[in-house]
Parts: sequence; C-alpha cells; structure tokens
Amino acid sequence: MIQKYTFGNPLPTESVITPVKKAEGMPEYGKISLTEGFTFLYKMSPDDIVYGLGEANRGINKRGFIYTSNCSDDPNHVEDTVSLYGAHNFIIISGKSTYGIYVDYPSALTFDIGYTRIDELTITCDDANLDFYIIDGDNAYDIVKQFRKIIGRSYIPPKFAFGFGQSRWGYKTKEDFLEVAKGYRENHIPIDMIYMDIDYMDGFKDFTISDEFSDFPAFVKEMKDNNLRLIPIIDAGVKIEENYDVYEEGVANNYFCKREDGTDFVAAVWPGYTHFPDVLNPEVRSWFGAKYKLLTDSGIEGFWNDMNEPALFYTPEGISRTKEAMKEFISLQETVDSVWELRDRLIHLANNPDDYTSFYHNINGQMIRHDKVHNLYGFNMTRAAGEALQKLSPEKRCLLFSRSSYIGMHRYGGIWTGDNKSWWSHLLLNLKMMPSLNMCGFLYTGADLGGFGADTSRELLLRWLALGVFTPLMRNHAAIGTREQECYRFEQIDDFRHIIGVRYRLLPYLYSEYMKAALNDDMLFKPLAFEYPDDTMAANVEDQLMLGNEIMIAPVYTQNAKGRYVYLPEEMMLIKFLPDGGISKEILEKGHHYITVPVNVVPMFIRSGKCIPIADVAECVAKLQTEHMQLIGYKDSSYILYEDDGYTRNYNMEAHCRKL
Ligand code: GLC
Repeated sequence: MIQKYTFGNPLPTESVITPVKKAEGMPEYGKISLTEGFTFLYKMSPDDIVYGLGEANRGINKRGFIYTSNCSDDPNHVEDTVSLYGAHNFIIISGKSTYGIYVDYPSALTFDIGYTRIDELTITCDDANLDFYIIDGDNAYDIVKQFRKIIGRSYIPPKFAFGFGQSRWGYKTKEDFLEVAKGYRENHIPIDMIYMDIDYMDGFKDFTISDEFSDFPAFVKEMKDNNLRLIPIIDAGVKIEENYDVYEEGVANNYFCKREDGTDFVAAVWPGYTHFPDVLNPEVRSWFGAKYKLLTDSGIEGFWNDMNEPALFYTPEGISRTKEAMKEFISLQETVDSVWELRDRLIHLANNPDDYTSFYHNINGQMIRHDKVHNLYGFNMTRAAGEALQKLSPEKRCLLFSRSSYIGMHRYGGIWTGDNKSWWSHLLLNLKMMPSLNMCGFLYTGADLGGFGADTSRELLLRWLALGVFTPLMRNHAAIGTREQECYRFEQIDDFRHIIGVRYRLLPYLYSEYMKAALNDDMLFKPLAFEYPDDTMAANVEDQLMLGNEIMIAPVYTQNAKGRYVYLPEEMMLIKFLPDGGISKEILEKGHHYITVPVNVVPMFIRSGKCIPIADVAECVAKLQTEHMQLIGYKDSSYILYEDDGYTRNYNMEAHCRKL
C-alpha cells in the first residue's frame, strides 16, 4: 500500500506517473516537523537495515553515514563524499517496522542514517514543498516492486548495447577509431561499440562533427559493416559562437536558462563559455531533442549525455570575484591563510553553489531559480533525447544513457556512474551500487570498467571486467592522460579475450533476465537478503549479489588475491569459466567457503535446482547463435528464455518466451 502526503505546494517532477491518492494527516511512521524547512525523524531499532538511494556512496546497507541528494560533478569521489552524480530519494527501512519512503523533492535533500545519532534516521531539506510517499509491504523486495510500479517501466536498450564497448577520452580522428577497431578485431576480443568522446565534435560544439571525419555517414557505415556502433557523447552546454545554429536558435527563441535580469546565463564547460538549454521547459526539450536527428541521420544508434548536473567549470561572475581577490593577494604580504584562501577560491570556481543560485528556468511561465530544481536537469536533458528518439524512430530502440539523473529518468535511458578512479575500492563500490540503482528503476547501468581517472593495472582491469561481464552496460572508459586502457594494450591478451568472451556466452541469459526485470518492474541485481529474507547471515553480505532468478555473483575485488570467501545461503553450484573455454562445476553446500579464482577465471553460482543457457563465444552480438545453447546447472531443470529481435519496441512477454 502506498500513501502520499503532500506538504506545501510542490513542483511536479513527473518522477511518479501512476496517480497515488493523497493521504490525510501524518504518516504512521516517524515524526514530521515543518518549523524549519522539512524534517522527518524516525527512531531506528538496532537491527534495522536501510536500503536504497540508488547512485550513492558506501554500502548496500546505508546505515551509519550521511548522504545528500545533490547531483554533483565530482570526479574525485572518495569514501566520505556525500553527493554523487544522481539524486535518488528512495529508501527502505527493513527491520522492526518495514516500509519504504520516497521523497519527491528536486533540490538538495539530506538523509542522515544513523550518522549524527546512531539510532536516528532524519531526512531534511530547506523548503517544505514536497511529496512524501510511504510504502508498506510484506518485505523490502515487495516494497521495491510497488515503488517501481508507480514510477513507470525502465528503459530498454537495443540488444547490441549488451555487448562490450571501448571508450577513451582523447580519440580524435578516424584513424584513432580504426586503430581501436583493429586492436579488438585482430586480437579477436569481442566488441560491439566504440564511444566517441568530446573530440569528435568541432570545437566541442554539440551536434557538429569535426573535419577529421570527411564523410561521417560513410564512416559510421564502414564501422557498422564491421559490427561496430559508434556512440557519440552529447554535453549539456551549448557553445557561444556566432553562426553556430544551435546557439543562434537558442538565443533567438529564449531557449537558454536566464540570469535574474533576463540575459542568458553563461558558464564555461569544455567548449569555453556556453549557455544551457532550459530542458525543464517542454518546448525547449523538443527543440533540443530534435537536434539528435543530425546524428541519427548519419546512422548513429546510441548516445551518452554528459555534464548534465549541469557541471559549471566557472562563470564570468566567479572569475571577476576571483580576480579581485587576486589583486588583493598581490598587494599584500602572503600568509599561510591568504595562500590557502586563494587556492580554495580557485578550486571552488568549479561547481560553485553561488553560481547554481544565479540562473533560472521557465516552468509554465514561472521563473524558478535553478537550485530549487537542480536535481531535475540531467533527467530532463535525457528525457529530451529519449522523447525525440522515440519520435524519430518509433520502431527502433536507441541506446541512451546519462551521467546525472533523478528518479523518472530511468524511463528514458540508463546511467553510467560517472568519473570513478582506477581504484580497487571503486570496483567494490560499483558492485554495491547495482542493487540500489535497480531499486530506483535504473536497470541499464554500469561503471567505467578499469577506472576512469588514474592509471589502471592489468590485474585491476581484468578483475573489474570479470564484474562488468554481468552489468548491462559493460564499458571500458579512461580519462585523457591516463595509462592506455584498451584490452589489447596489455600482456597476455588471451586473458582479456576470454573474460570478455564470457560476457557473450552469458548474453542470451543476461538479456533475457534484463527484459524480464524491465517488463515486470523487477530488479536484475538484488541483495542476498531479498531472496533469503529469513537468513540473518545473508542480510550482512555486501560483496555478493543475486543476479536474475538463477545466479549469484561474487567477484574478486582485492589486489593479489588468489580467490575469496563467499557465503552461500543455500546449496549452489559453483561455475568457473576457465581460460581454455571449459566450464568447471562443483556443488557447494550452504555456508562459508573459500573459492580460488585466478585472474583469468570468471566465477558465478547457480542456485539450487536451476540452470541457465550458455552460448558459444561470438565476436559481436549480431553473430551470437541462440539456437543450440547448452544448459548448465542442476539436472532436470529448465529455463524460460526471453528472446526478441533486439531492436524493435515490440516487447510482448508471452510471444517472446520459450522453455529450454
Ligand atoms: C566527463 C565525463 C567523462 C568524459 C569527460 C570528457 O568527465 O564524465 O566520461 O570522458 O567528461 O568528455
């Protein structure tokens, strides 16, 4: 049962699309105070577990820390970072009382989950205009399913998007892309996509192609003939440049966000000074979305939307304030304090809170200050693209994912989890985020495998790929200036060919489970406790996940490890994909085990009494054969495979399922 409590006069975010009747009075759980902004306070019992928050830091159990939903461009996120790129205000308290909370509020909102006081959960924000949902259910999993019903069906990508993709910031020319294609194809490492980062554009201008690509449609075709899709990036900021049509049209039609005095707001991102399309306005959304046609007309079938928190490197106002401070600094004898202050000023030019309060959106004729609706920007940029792509190609699906997001965006595209680092801790964070993201509707998701910032190592990349084999978005991406991270750059390429090959062997199963999860408003990745609610040991497992209905994954996430400990909540079959192409099987009983996992082996577990289909390795999705797959797992079991053409939007469950 879901109850909706409305406080004040909230701005419709369109995250919830199924009408929920308004409840009277106050929620049964916790205490709400409206004296200073909004506060919800709930006294937690010692054993309560708190799930949720989608793209957030720390564990699957969120208890013991503080998190702020405030979409942030923070490429250096560390253990005490409180805000990441998304804002997903859904949590579940599971314990003495079990219930879910969704706070539909588009500005900064803080969840203090036993951080300030160990037994207190507080949710606070400055402005008491919001919708507060309470969801009662039999257990945490049931609550997720109810929540997912009211926020609408998750985005479904084309099947090729379940293949492996290579990305790197810095590929510039046709030759760069051809080299990557050659590196993978000649080494027979399976791949389906190569991502185009900002350098494919002319001067970082959205919807332009640099002169390096003389005949872009012919190049897109050449790649596609080799079963490789090019996936370009689109950034939120539109470069200020005379005679650039997107800029000129935006200015002429008042499509950009405004300053208080009505002039167009200016901030620097990659192209230098830019304006920001006011995507909270439906007219602007359809204008900006229609621009994607320039690329789909060239044969492009997928996009990644970036910098849409939006990230602001600096504004002219911030620069003037800093210059003044510099003048003063120059005129005085330096002290430790004045040097540090100047340094901080320079650092805080980027994504400065003052800048987020200095521009406005036009929402139904009302000027709304950006910070009041900050968390909706990435959502609506991706919605602009998603709605347009649906119109441009009503028959065919398109790949689309975003960096910033709010609940509701999951209907239009997936997300990647932003700029991580080549750190072992970020591999584990990747694992922990998956079920939380699924709770909030984000099914097509994954992290930059190998790590974006910092230099990766062969071992870290291999181990991370062995997790990425299971995540719907499987992409190796690295920042400019870091160690080259394409798989063929490393020693013993066979290991990479093998690990990525396992992805393709599992792909029919993963696709089938993805489609079942999407079409049934279900989760693909679950904490163990969701499947084994009565197992107290399972409730504490933070480094293993249930995937679909048949398997459990337990990747290795530490350096130099020969294997790892696992907990089995029931008897399971340990499967190892061995480097010679063989598959080893071993039944392990319920309980704790140490499993050895060499760096070129992918382990997973099949649940008791179940089986899954395994295909032969293929070098791309188009070459996968699904007619004669082997079933691995328990004897006399069967599997219901969902299989469709992988590109039309005709998702009929019954018509596309068959028993194996
Ligand atoms: C941002 C993105 C990253 C991209 C870079 C350059 O940092 O998160 O993925 O490579 O911008 O476009």
